[in-house]
Amino acid sequence: MAVKSIVITGATAGIGRDAVLALASKGHHVIATGRNYAALEKVKAEANGNVDCVRLDVTDEQSIASAVAEIDRLTENRGIDVLINNAGFMTPSPLAELSDHDLRAQFDTNVFGLMAVTRAFLPRMFERKTGRILNISSVSGRFPAPLVGAYHATKYAVEALSDALRMELHAFGIKVVVIEPGTIRTEFAERSHSAAVRAQRTDSRYQRAFQRADQVHAAADRIAVGPACVSNAIAHAATTPCPRARYIAPKRAWVAILLSTLLPTWVFDALMRQLAGLNRRQLGMVA
Ligand SMILES: NC(=O)c1ccc[n+]([C@@H]2O[C@H](COP(=O)([O-])OP(=O)(O)OC[C@H]3O[C@@H](n4cnc5c(N)ncnc54)[C@H](OP(=O)(O)O)[C@@H]3O)[C@@H](O)[C@H]2O)c1
Repeated sequence: MAVKSIVITGATAGIGRDAVLALASKGHHVIATGRNYAALEKVKAEANGNVDCVRLDVTDEQSIASAVAEIDRLTENRGIDVLINNAGFMTPSPLAELSDHDLRAQFDTNVFGLMAVTRAFLPRMFERKTGRILNISSVSGRFPAPLVGAYHATKYAVEALSDALRMELHAFGIKVVVIEPGTIRTEFAERSHSAAVRAQRTDSRYQRAFQRADQVHAAADRIAVGPACVSNAIAHAATTPCPRARYIAPKRAWVAILLSTLLPTWVFDALMRQLAGLNRRQLGMVA
């Protein structure tokens, strides 16, 4: 297997961190990027070789430019073989109560940041007529859900952008793959919970749904799996000669997508409302 130069965004925690370790253990040159340099250095120390660290905030143009220059230096101006756009976060909230700032912030990182980083690494891939871009989307990009609508919207955007990029870059030898994790045990749930609490309004019409959301998240945590299955999908998609357009990890996460596709919209909506505690009785609107 040929050794690849691979850049990963958001490598300080969770899926990004696990993918760095998995890819480095296979002998690839992994460039772990993120905002927290001390955390990147810890990942590097754990990897035992093959890892370089580069500071990169995907929402900061200057940071992206400096990271590209540093990565050019690290690859002796050859450029990278694989870019893994992984950085992302979620602020759960009813859309009517989500501030413009919190809505934009999710798009800034999950969508505009992903595109800015992609554009920054494409010139060298065009020059070499080869390269691969793996976008970490989510099964959330394949079906709608209440109370996390903004996050799902960012992942729908990642899916659509990736599909268009896959077709636009094909002639230039650059492959684009979407990785769709299901519920994965990382720092994501805890960070999302803190973001939700911060975004919650004290006069919210959805107070009872927030209490229910805590139970739903506890249940989700029980079915969550570790990030290894995503790292396996990433490692396969990064190196196989003919990758598929999308990979779901773990595979059982197909069920949610299948249900949303097969069920009539009104049935799916009713199930989701019930689950999220959004019926009139659940919200305390009727006795
Ligand atoms: N965990 C799941 O259940 C799940 C399911 C489906 C999809 N995903 C997706 O998988 C990806 C990774 O999530 P995770 O579960 O590994 O979450 P995580 O443990 O919270 O890690 C998120 C990573 O993204 C980084 N990040 C956030 N904003 C950034 C920015 N502006 N610039 C650079 N890095 C930034 C974080 O860096 P800091 O440490 O600096 O904050 C962290 O390294 C995300 O795109 C997420 O949407 C996760």
